[in-house]
Amino acid sequence: MEKTSKVNKGCNPRSITIGLLFVLLAACTEQNTETPSDNQELAKKTKTEKKITSDTKELYQFTDIDIQFLEPFLISNLGEPPKSVSNQYSENIDAAKLGKKLFFDASLSNNKQVSCATCHQPKRYFTDGLAFSKATGVTKRSSPSVLGAAYSPWQFWDGRKDSLWSQALGPIEDHNEYNTSRLTYVRNFLEKYPNEYQNVFGDIKLDQIAQLPKSASPKGNSQEIKNWENMSKTQQDLINQVFSHIGKAIMAYQRQLTIPPSRFDHFLEALVEKREAELPKLLSPQEVKGLRLFVGKANCASCHNGPLFTNYEFHNIGAPDPIDKPVELGRYQGVKDLVEDEFTCLSKWSDASEQDCAEMRFLKTSGPELVGALKTPTLRNIAETAPYMQMGQFENLQQVITHYNFPAPPVYNREQHPNRPHFDILPLKLTTQEVVELESFLHTLTSPLPKDDPWWGLEKDID
Ligand code: HEC
Ligand code: HEC
Repeated sequence: MEKTSKVNKGCNPRSITIGLLFVLLAACTEQNTETPSDNQELAKKTKTEKKITSDTKELYQFTDIDIQFLEPFLISNLGEPPKSVSNQYSENIDAAKLGKKLFFDASLSNNKQVSCATCHQPKRYFTDGLAFSKATGVTKRSSPSVLGAAYSPWQFWDGRKDSLWSQALGPIEDHNEYNTSRLTYVRNFLEKYPNEYQNVFGDIKLDQIAQLPKSASPKGNSQEIKNWENMSKTQQDLINQVFSHIGKAIMAYQRQLTIPPSRFDHFLEALVEKREAELPKLLSPQEVKGLRLFVGKANCASCHNGPLFTNYEFHNIGAPDPIDKPVELGRYQGVKDLVEDEFTCLSKWSDASEQDCAEMRFLKTSGPELVGALKTPTLRNIAETAPYMQMGQFENLQQVITHYNFPAPPVYNREQHPNRPHFDILPLKLTTQEVVELESFLHTLTSPLPKDDPWWGLEKDID
């Protein structure tokens, strides 16, 4: 934007790289907050007033390079989730409809009260507001939103699952979640949804399942494990096949969840389309200052970038472990669990050929950068999904930003892991005012709840 005289003159971005742009955006904001140095009171006052209006104007002026840098953050750039090689039903709408029923169906859990939506509640943007999610028992972590999960190559904070269908099978057998056995769930599911199952996945062999014990699972209590081991390989395969189909339907459902544009997107759209006059109506000066900090001095965008504000990678940002919990091993443990998992892209239950499973074939399985590293979460709707971090260490966004501002290095306990963990952030030296601005920007990422979008299931939301 050529007419943005002062910003362009003082901070001509033409010759600098995108990397430097971060610093530039911040420098331009700082420059705008200088106070005038005139002695005469009246003249000073008028000058200050003029300056406030022109500063505000400049705050809303972004160069073409700024805009080019910001444009990829637009939610409308998200597109369809990447194709799933391991789930041939991922785009099947009937599978998604069945998946939706399962996502909200509590009747198939052991106490008939737990569904995915217990911990992933639509009205809370598919989270539950707890530091440690709970159902039949208390889990080890906080539930992340499932919005946008279909875009991530890895699931869970430590990425111990390589697909959404494999992830969905975990809660069903987890003692603290559905607390049911693989065989029990499969049998009850087939009895309740025979037509929906047949319609998508083909024949049901209920008569063969009828002969099997009441419950059995390779992951259950000792009796269930014994029952599982006593089953023939064919019987185990029969159950595993239906079980993996269940995960694939739940995955197909979660792929349908979309995120409506937030105030930030409306602002950015107006910026891209050069509707300058509208900008001040879309974000306040404080929020724009926060945006400039987010991509500038505070460096948040180096990890939280793209339409979902995540690079899907694993980093150690040193959120302190709660005193009574073991040291967080993060991705270091996540890859160990992943290579042993029964339902990966490389498994018998995947629809992919081995060479299509690039993520698993080129998996990084060791190295100090894995220790305590967690998956960068989305910042979409972040103001509505407290508490924060994998164990809800921070109650509010101010605490999160204060942590990034003055981070304490992560704990290193030689007995718990062999490598000194990497530490991926540096102190930011933000002022109190800047912390407030950055926080106010994060609030602009909240999307309105789409009451009429049937996939969101807001009409089914539990209280
Ligand atoms: C008892 C609460 C609870 C229930 C029930 C539950 N979840 Fe979760 N969910 C969690 C927690 C806690 C995590 C994070 C665990 C971790 O990373 O170790 C999680 C993680 C996830 C993730 C990973 C998201 C990401 O960004 O990594 C997805 C997807 C998900 N759950 C979907 C489901 C589905 C589908 C169901 C039902 C089959 C379900 N959850 C049932 C609590 C729950
Ligand atoms: C080096 C990469 C990196 C940088 C830089 C970074 N983050 Fe994060 N962020 C992460 C990771 C990884 C997590 C999850 C860590 C955890 O759970 O302990 C996270 C978690 C968060 C959360 C909590 C999300 C949730 O759902 O609980 C917020 C909020 C957040 N970051 C905001 C910011 C802000 C604001 C900045 C800039 C000041 C920033 N981040 C800079 C990687 C980064």
